[in-house]
Amino acid sequence: MSSVRNFIASNKDRFLEELMDLLRIPSVSADPAFKQDVHRAADFVKSQLEKSGVDKAEICSTEGYPIVYAEKIIDEDAPTVLIYGHYDVQPADPYELWDSPPFEPVIKNTNIHPEGAIFARGSADDKGQFYMHIKALETLTSLNQLSCNVKFMIEGEEEVGSENLDRFVRANKDKLKADVVLISDTSMISLEHPSVTVGLRGLTYLQVEVTGPNRDLHSGTYGGAVANPINILCKMIASLQDADNRITIPGFYDKVEAYDQSYRDELNKAPFDESDYRKKLDIKSTWGEKGYTTIERVGIRPTLDVNGIWGGYIGEGAKTVLPSKAFAKISMRLVPQQDHKEIARLFEQHFISLAPESVKVKVTPHHGGEPAVVPTDSPGYFAAEAAIEEVFGKSAIPTREGGSIPITSLFQQELNLDPILMGFGLDTDAIHSPNEHYGVKNYLMGIETIALFFNQFKQQFTKANG
Ligand code: BES
Ligand code: MN
Ligand code: MN
Repeated sequence: MSSVRNFIASNKDRFLEELMDLLRIPSVSADPAFKQDVHRAADFVKSQLEKSGVDKAEICSTEGYPIVYAEKIIDEDAPTVLIYGHYDVQPADPYELWDSPPFEPVIKNTNIHPEGAIFARGSADDKGQFYMHIKALETLTSLNQLSCNVKFMIEGEEEVGSENLDRFVRANKDKLKADVVLISDTSMISLEHPSVTVGLRGLTYLQVEVTGPNRDLHSGTYGGAVANPINILCKMIASLQDADNRITIPGFYDKVEAYDQSYRDELNKAPFDESDYRKKLDIKSTWGEKGYTTIERVGIRPTLDVNGIWGGYIGEGAKTVLPSKAFAKISMRLVPQQDHKEIARLFEQHFISLAPESVKVKVTPHHGGEPAVVPTDSPGYFAAEAAIEEVFGKSAIPTREGGSIPITSLFQQELNLDPILMGFGLDTDAIHSPNEHYGVKNYLMGIETIALFFNQFKQQFTKANG
């Protein structure tokens, strides 16, 4: 057994316990009720970084939640790997759908994870994933095998749009200078089919408000004569997609990159069992834009989804009411060349134009982010391929994922860095859902792969740059 694998195996229990301590901190960035906990998570991360052998670790305050920065510089001339991750998590609601409390991690076996998975909010997204990097560093420093410089930037606002990180990156280009940025905040196909993410979608997120009469009305006295904002909102939303499930907003597809058939064929070669996919979700059929496969619909095509819709009476029993207002939260996932701000404008214009005179419409943009595509011919990509090959005994399959990490394109544009999206979660890990979990094996193999990445990167970088 390699010394790296051996070190991880002998420290397995402690590596798991430390992660579980981090998972006990409910660092929900979206809800101000958890403010103290989010700060507590940042302090925990800083102290664990210090214990892993970094030269220095610091809490960088922002207008929102802090960014934990740390570095270990072994040699000014050696290449530098910047690690990005996030210690904040999504809200755990609805609590009643969790089989065990979201902030009391437990390890249970499942069909997909026969060797156990840690159940807790944030276990896969992203605490269990960025924590692997801290343990990979500890492994290499303990074995005296670290061969490149490492910088860590772990933020606390990813799940709410990373606004302060954006500013931090623009203002600290020197501090963050590196040769590659390594991110574990995505998934892989399976442990049998390791993959590297080579594309992420962008995002535009908005809230819409439709107002009818100036107060709630008796639905008998007024029903049929006054526009019901919920009925109208539903009609407007329904018209945003046509019979082929294409989005009807004028100009929406203008910049969408069209991929040639050979690239599409390549993507569709990834192992994917459509009937298993349907079975796991308990759906009879998939759904989406005509002319594209499921892999393509998620990976290279944009989409529009209502994330929430509300208004009127939703309490017990029946109340006959014609509501004054209706609301919805709508997101669009974007693909290369689409600009999230432009799409927000196109949506707003179109949505307002859809409204009949009987109602007023307000559109409020939330956050957004650009899509990202990762080049597959960089020293970082080669290093990821080599590390995965060594640990998994199989070559990595490049995949395009549907989720978004808006900061990825900022790293490319502002820091001129190739991002390497080497995540070890699975699609079935239930991130953002009740019973989120992360495989113990994924965690341990991830630590090993990351440790090998650091050393592979030194070789690949030296090869490319002489
Ligand atoms: N880690 C996810 C993104 C992700 C999930 C990428 C699965 C690939 C596969 C990240 O924490 C996330 O949830 N991002 C948000 C966007 C953000 C701006 C709130 C998303 O994708 O909804
Ligand atoms: Mn994440
Ligand atoms: Mn997330």
